Amino acid sequence: MCGIVGYVGPSSALDVLLGGLKRLEYRGYDSAGISVVTNGEIQTQKRAGKLQVLIDQLSASPMADAQMGIGHTRWATHGAPTDGNAHPHNAGAEQISLIHNGIIENFSELKKKLVSEGIEFESETDSEVAAHLLASEFANTGDFEKSFVSVANALQGAFTILAINKSDPGLVMAARRNSPLVLGVGDGENFLGSDVAAFVDYTKTAISVGQDQIVKLRADGFELIDFNGNPVEHEEFKVHWDASAASKGGWESFMAKEISEEPQAVGDTLMGRLDANGDVNLSEFDGLSIENLENINRIIITACGTAAYAGEVAKYAIEQLARISVSVELAHELRYRNPVIDEKTLVVAISQSGETMDTLMAIRHASERGAKVLSICNTQGATLARESDATIYTHAGPEVAVASTKAFSAQITAGYLLALFLAHATGKTENLNQLGKELLSLPRKVKTTLEMTGDVAEFANQLKDIQSVLFLGRNVGFPIAMEGALKLKELSYIHAEGFAAGELKHGPIALIEPGQVVIVLVPAPSSAESLHAKVLANIQEINARGAKVIAIAEQGDDEVAEFAEKVFYTPKTDPLLSPVLSVVPLHIFSMELAKAKGLDVDQPRNLAKSVTVE
Ligand code: AGP
Repeated sequence: MCGIVGYVGPSSALDVLLGGLKRLEYRGYDSAGISVVTNGEIQTQKRAGKLQVLIDQLSASPMADAQMGIGHTRWATHGAPTDGNAHPHNAGAEQISLIHNGIIENFSELKKKLVSEGIEFESETDSEVAAHLLASEFANTGDFEKSFVSVANALQGAFTILAINKSDPGLVMAARRNSPLVLGVGDGENFLGSDVAAFVDYTKTAISVGQDQIVKLRADGFELIDFNGNPVEHEEFKVHWDASAASKGGWESFMAKEISEEPQAVGDTLMGRLDANGDVNLSEFDGLSIENLENINRIIITACGTAAYAGEVAKYAIEQLARISVSVELAHELRYRNPVIDEKTLVVAISQSGETMDTLMAIRHASERGAKVLSICNTQGATLARESDATIYTHAGPEVAVASTKAFSAQITAGYLLALFLAHATGKTENLNQLGKELLSLPRKVKTTLEMTGDVAEFANQLKDIQSVLFLGRNVGFPIAMEGALKLKELSYIHAEGFAAGELKHGPIALIEPGQVVIVLVPAPSSAESLHAKVLANIQEINARGAKVIAIAEQGDDEVAEFAEKVFYTPKTDPLLSPVLSVVPLHIFSMELAKAKGLDVDQPRNLAKSVTVE
């Protein structure tokens, strides 16, 4: 979960590196550092704390500029966030400098060997082992490129490493295994980054570096080889968004900007895939021909965190429309429970970043057992997309805030498209066009929801001292209750828990005491199975015990107002599609409460945007 940048070219390396780290800071912000080569010497500056601490230090004691270098923002795994544990790590009497993203699983045995050879370590990190290994190889062979390839082969686990050598200031070496790396192709300059945000200011031409591949990067070109030194094929892709999309654009926070973009994220994800009659066109399925679907007897949706809750919504939609059995499994659980997966299983992996290691490991496990893998991903060229048989890209644009909002809305939308596609593929076409047309109205209805929930901020301010919030939902509202609780936890550090409303009387109602805040997602009065009445009954049960009830309900549902202290209304829509609207006030509520508590909305403590280690 670290941010990595590499550069070789005529521009100011300091500008390129620090600018790239700024765009990547959401990937980790415990510490930051850069190394460049000037006048035949390596210069390194690194500091614990956010990137601004390093920038301030560089202002106070400037480094000589250079035309090449590496930069790193850290999310601590081994060793606390201190200056000494910050990257880059230098070795060989400042001969080389190295940065690393991931976890080197065999670092302790390698460290023991290096210590036995008299190497002294300055940090507690696994990454420093790679630096000393490289320096030692280089000292023995005098060939930096070969030494780098040898070190890449010696490491086990998950790593993206970049290294520079003061004797060759025109070269940055990079390797990746189970960790993200993209190459930016410039004009007389070239870039490396954890994702394209690192260099999108300079070039929109990119190459995804594949598993067990190495890059030799120079200003006038680059080489891609495998870990055996053999050249590998590569394919360029164009980045479809520009730097402004990855900047705040005047908004107070990335999260506020990204919530405001939820209508567009939904609309762009639908674009070209649903016609005015509500018919679906998912060309992405080319890798999964229809006959494969006829062989499918179950679907496993796998993801982590917010993406898993999007998967839960997709489960309701697919089972209701396509009548195919669906289960949703947390990726880190699926991977290790020896699940029943075979060639009749379709695994759908959902991931905004496409680099979540838990999710990657789950799909690799499933592929090895014959399953077809379809991914729903928001990041072009991500590892998940490259390792899937087919990918439905969400088009939410870059999501920088650690708390996922617009990507979640887009993931749910992609789930509906998938459900409609599968229903058509399996001949369950009743009422599909009507639902497809309602889906087309969602972007406008999300925008209306944003306009209807302007008073959430004031309401959140009134609650800024609360210590716990419960969220209740039923049917498709249940995953939204879970999402609302997760957002509140990760942003305001308040204990929050989501429950299926029907579960309340089986235990959780014991938590209700006078003043307990409970947010209830009320099904539309038109919902089947009289869910609306059942949830109103749940509200009365907790009202009777003094709960402070906040309801999210459908416009026109006046009955709920009799039982709730506050109601946030959303426009009418098909009950199955209501999550795209009902989640909006919950995203705003969690952001506003965090703001009221003076917390960092975009970079909450202990978190990172993409969890690229298991
Ligand atoms: C969401 O707000 C969290 N930041 C987290 O749960 C996230 O959804 C999860 O880590 C999955 O990330 P991915 O979508 O990039 O795989």
